[in-house]
Amino acid sequence: MATRAALKFARECSVYRKAKSNNLPTRCFSTASTNTHTPQPPSPKKVPHSSKKGRLFTGAAIGLLIGGGAYASTVDEATFCGWLFSATKLVNPFFAFLDPEVAHRLAVSAAARGWVPIEKRQDPPILELEVWGRRFSNPIGLAAGFDKNAEAVEGLLGLGFGFVEVGSVTPVPQDGNPKPRIFRLRNEGAIINRCGFNSEGIVVVAKRLGAQHGKRKLETSSTLSPAVDDAVHGGKAGPGILGVNLGKNKTSEDAAADYVQGVHTLSQYADYLVINISSPNTPGLRQLQGRKQLKDLVKKVQAARDEMQWGEEGPPPLLVKIAPDLSKQDLEDIAAVALALRVDGLIISNTTIQRPDPVSINPVAEETGGLSGKPLFNLSTNILKDMYVLTKGRIPLIGCGGVSSGEDAYKKIRAGATLVQLYTAFAYGGPALIPEIKAELAQCLERDGYKSIYEAVGADCR
Ligand SMILES: Cc1cc2nc3c(=O)[nH]c(=O)nc-3n(C[C@H](O)[C@H](O)[C@H](O)COP(=O)(O)O)c2cc1C
Repeated sequence: MATRAALKFARECSVYRKAKSNNLPTRCFSTASTNTHTPQPPSPKKVPHSSKKGRLFTGAAIGLLIGGGAYASTVDEATFCGWLFSATKLVNPFFAFLDPEVAHRLAVSAAARGWVPIEKRQDPPILELEVWGRRFSNPIGLAAGFDKNAEAVEGLLGLGFGFVEVGSVTPVPQDGNPKPRIFRLRNEGAIINRCGFNSEGIVVVAKRLGAQHGKRKLETSSTLSPAVDDAVHGGKAGPGILGVNLGKNKTSEDAAADYVQGVHTLSQYADYLVINISSPNTPGLRQLQGRKQLKDLVKKVQAARDEMQWGEEGPPPLLVKIAPDLSKQDLEDIAAVALALRVDGLIISNTTIQRPDPVSINPVAEETGGLSGKPLFNLSTNILKDMYVLTKGRIPLIGCGGVSSGEDAYKKIRAGATLVQLYTAFAYGGPALIPEIKAELAQCLERDGYKSIYEAVGADCR
């Protein structure tokens, strides 16, 4: 049967070829063209020709795969890891093509599913530091807003961030502002967003963190007794530092009550807590930065945290995240409150409502919202310096705003930051950026003769 079919096919092909060489219209061989018994060759798709090409292509691909696999098996884990991180750059153009919020959603989902590389290489020892009694393998963290609902903590920590901050989380779930609400200014390396605290709420986030807390603890407890495990990780989320950033609901009249609710539900999972009072997209929020309002708020939140039952390690440190759009007087007030109430740290800064050059000439700059990325760098670094001086270097500061290289991170540290965060540069550069920033930061420190991060903190303010 098969032989007969093959013979028939060969015959039809030869008739078809003859017809073609005699310049007869090959159209007449179309199966649809006739109902006679004229031999019907396959449609003139040049099957033999393309299948030859296909075979060649498949052969080359298999050859490459085998050759590449054989070569990859000879390289060490660190080299292979480096390749994986670099390879993620290949998907950046695809993400750039998508709507910013769709791209962001995809990135979070990929990290949540573990479809991102895992950093297996040790961080340069010079980057290691201890803050609030917690050990950071490097000072580069992911800022709030990327993983608002704590969906991808493991994947993001696995990328090699020294710490990851989730949130802002609101007590009651809310949708945030209508879309579109995230806008790229690609040439300027910037983003404008007016998300308005889209959040799944504290209950959902607590459940997620609870599940991860268990899982992460189990991972390390296989080699350590529970007691040792608790001592190493403080009985909290295991290796990798996790910050939880708290927000307030748009319609809530009592901001302090919102933050207190956040503390009650989420502080047990946090290595540090943040009161975010600096988003420009929630009406009235930034007014909480005023001297009296801030003092009242911090007192209430600290009390709520301290009333809870804490083990030997004590409660998580409480930080306040401030805006870059503050006057000297505002900064002095915040510094005074932070010192008086022994706030554990300040994050400087959130996005700006200003449109510094060269952003101002971009039509997208007219969109309402907070600007982040490169154009924010100087503004936020100047505020950081001011705050370092005002707080006399007594409060750990997290420098955030426009960091896109190791040199930028180094400048933040010299301006007074003990830790550094980024968001926008990561959104544009993807995972490959993280090892690059860490390596460059280590080089900067070594170049200037520093033996540790501590030595460089505030170097430009002395
Ligand atoms: C899309 C987007 C959403 C953000 N959401 C939050 C948020 O929910 N809470 C918060 O404290 N900061 C939020 N931020 C601000 C960042 O955490 C960070 O402070 C700011 O972007 C400056 O850093 P960058 O220049 O490295 O992006 C958001 C930023 C962006 C771009």
